Amino acid sequence: MSSTLERVLVLIPTYNEKDSLPGVVTRVRAAQPQVDVLVLDDNSPDGTGDVADALSAEDEQVHVLHRPGKQGLGPAYLAGFAWATEHGYDAVVEMDADGSHLPEQLDSLLLAARDADLVIGSRWVPGGATHNWPWTRNLLSRGANIYTRTALGIPVRDATAGYRVYRTSALRTMDLDGVASQGYCFQVDLTLRAVDRGLRVVEVPIDFVEREVGTSKMDGSIVREALASVTLWGLRRRGLQAGSAVGRLGRRVGSGGTWHQLTD
Ligand code: GDD
Ligand code: MN
Repeated sequence: MSSTLERVLVLIPTYNEKDSLPGVVTRVRAAQPQVDVLVLDDNSPDGTGDVADALSAEDEQVHVLHRPGKQGLGPAYLAGFAWATEHGYDAVVEMDADGSHLPEQLDSLLLAARDADLVIGSRWVPGGATHNWPWTRNLLSRGANIYTRTALGIPVRDATAGYRVYRTSALRTMDLDGVASQGYCFQVDLTLRAVDRGLRVVEVPIDFVEREVGTSKMDGSIVREALASVTLWGLRRRGLQAGSAVGRLGRRVGSGGTWHQLTD
């Protein structure tokens, strides 16, 4: 089933991104003139919210959601998803404000989204790459993805990636009220929900380019939350899988004539 996405909203979360936001918004609008933009600003102390308001005043396809304070990437995106649904969009794009996600590559994500519910712009599939990232960040991202894939048993190569397209119809099936993830593990959380619901998840290669201005908001608490969450989800899934394997065994034994209750 292939369907074109008529109304697309690019969500850009910001915290202290006043120097990079204007360039990114301009590039998005130039690369994909039909899409709208919603900046999700957590009351950045550097005045990014005012910069976003100025961009919005110049361009009616640019909108701003002002949030009261820094609450993490997850809650900001959830607010953006709700806004997109309320305003009747067919799909949302997640994109960092720092230029790491090239607006010029959005066309390949949107093309893939014609036949998918979730498209992940992936650094870790053939053709994907990172540029100017310190080796420590490459190692962290690769390690996090190997751990995630193994712990959760999902086939996704870049489950932490932040450049994505979701169909809003898919988001509505993903029980978003139950999402508690705050930091970058939000990305893994939603990937897992999509896979578990049997949604069509596709990875397309992207070039991830390290920011030239501003600083990363990644910190120890984000890494700790991700590690603890992925471990918990992994254990829960293993428990469920073991439970259903025992159930299957019980049924097989049962169909042989004598029923043995192998689960309690
Ligand atoms: N509103 C809001 N609130 N925005 C935030 C917050 C927050 O609490 N924390 C971060 N952001 C915004 C940043 O302003 C930026 O636009 C985007 O989220 C990504 O933050 P960065 O700090 O640039 O992330 P990174 O480059 O270290 O991490 C990249 O890799 C992660 C792991 O693969 C990103 O691509 C992440 O999306 C990805 O999960
Ligand atoms: Mn970044």
